[in-house]
Amino acid sequence: MPFTLRKAVFPCAGLGTRFLPATKAQPKEMLTLVDKPLIQYGVEEALAAGIPDILVITSRGKSSIEDHFDFSPELESALQQKGKTKLLEEVKAVSDLISIGFVRQKRALGLGHAVRCARDMVGDEPFAVLLPDDIIRSETPALLQMKGVFQQLGASVIALMRVPREEISAYGVVEATPHPFPGPPNRLFRLHGMVEKPSAQDAPSDLAIIGRYILMPEIFRFLDATETGAGGELQLTDAIRNMLAEFPVFGYVFEGTRYDAGDKFGYLQATLDFALHHPELGTRFAAHLRTKQATL
Ligand code: G1P
Repeated sequence: MPFTLRKAVFPCAGLGTRFLPATKAQPKEMLTLVDKPLIQYGVEEALAAGIPDILVITSRGKSSIEDHFDFSPELESALQQKGKTKLLEEVKAVSDLISIGFVRQKRALGLGHAVRCARDMVGDEPFAVLLPDDIIRSETPALLQMKGVFQQLGASVIALMRVPREEISAYGVVEATPHPFPGPPNRLFRLHGMVEKPSAQDAPSDLAIIGRYILMPEIFRFLDATETGAGGELQLTDAIRNMLAEFPVFGYVFEGTRYDAGDKFGYLQATLDFALHHPELGTRFAAHLRTKQATL
């Protein structure tokens, strides 16, 4: 069953330095976006793509992630006693649906290294990688869009987004040619190269890698053979580039709005968007913003 996708890896071992001091004693993946921690958005996206097996790569100080997805008997019985059934359902919903495992990345040696830590639990099958601070709001969950492409092509697919030149050096950037795709033009690309965090002049295109990947298991072999790259870290981008020599890899420009919620400004933008679209808070919040706008 080469095209089944059952497992999703969440690298969560980063230090979150861009969000200090909030992330000093709290994992950035647990920062709240309206009423859920960032990582829950990613986990729900994986579930919506039919992927129930979640593997979180953690490090010291990240145990609240484990607690969040664990059962919470005291809280659940308190909510039950108080008759707060809706809240009870919300608290239980995600933990009931997923199977979750944790692996410790003992040292912060880079995204490539974090993914490599998943090897034993992933085994010899394709898997997804979701970077929890890349938050995507879309009608069809981004990973589900990518899964469709993956199942058609039977090859690795990574998420892409066009980024202005002046911001491109914050990303992995691909060299690509359009590939036929039933749908809007310039969505699917065959990748020929990629570089992690190039300078604006050296960037091969304006197509940046966003933190959603569907990878064939061969990536582990390439991760083993890849040298330390940008920032002195083992880069996933470098291993995927090395894989291109032997295996096709596609890039897919997903439909939706992406926020870099690991950055203070991006987090504020995401908060605004998700608050405005929240089923219970949206209307009230929009009215509040309109009154605020008058004072700006
Ligand atoms: C990581 C990847 C990079 C990608 C980015 C998207 O970088 O290494 O290729 O463009 O995520 O958010 P990071 O933001 O962790 O430095």
